[in-house]
Amino acid sequence: RLIMMDQNEKKLNVAKAAIHYIHNDCLLGMGTGSTINFLIDLLPEIKNKITAVASSSVQTENLLKKNGFEVRPLNQLGMLDLYIDGADEATGNLHLIKGGGGALTREKILAENSNKFICIADETKLVKRLGNFPLPIEVIPMARSFVSREIIKYQGKPVYRENFKTDNGNEIIDIYNLDIIDPIKLENELNQIPGVVTVGIFARRRADVLLIADEQGVEEIYPQ
Ligand code: 5RP
Repeated sequence: RLIMMDQNEKKLNVAKAAIHYIHNDCLLGMGTGSTINFLIDLLPEIKNKITAVASSSVQTENLLKKNGFEVRPLNQLGMLDLYIDGADEATGNLHLIKGGGGALTREKILAENSNKFICIADETKLVKRLGNFPLPIEVIPMARSFVSREIIKYQGKPVYRENFKTDNGNEIIDIYNLDIIDPIKLENELNQIPGVVTVGIFARRRADVLLIADEQGVEEIYPQ
């Protein structure tokens, strides 16, 4: 009899698979979100391998502390060995959309500051082309309307994320209706708009390994 796995079982399975990438003396960066939360709960098992851990959000920091880890400021650590994070969308080419949880700025800083970036997700996140998930952009509050008008030039539909402030005290605009044909180009262009703090496209620094959990198990995907 076929028993269907629910999404949380897949998230747990992919978190278990990610544990094997954490080597001895690891300077580790941790992402944010429900998938990563499964991994954080498994981390105490391999605590002796982790030299120090940096966090991409207040939420993750609190959960790490609850699990017995002291979180260190990135400025004290330099380049990390490994960064592990989830995604809202991922392509087979390992380009991502992130920021559904609003932690994209610190996530992008950690991803760029790591020698290896592993993205973990269940199969619902795997897409042919980015943009079905509304693209989060963190903006300086006073620039929100200006950035939104600039985005309309790209045929996107900007929606202000109500009652939300990022850990950095900024705001998020979610961009609907984008068909992201060239993720690196769009990431670079949107980055140039004054007032944009971070664009939720992770393509300039894409993931190095994508782990996708489905009914059969966990697939390991490398850039094409
Ligand atoms: C937060 C993120 C998360 O990685 C993304 O939202 C995935 O979260 P989840 O694992 O809960 O689906 O980018 O800013």
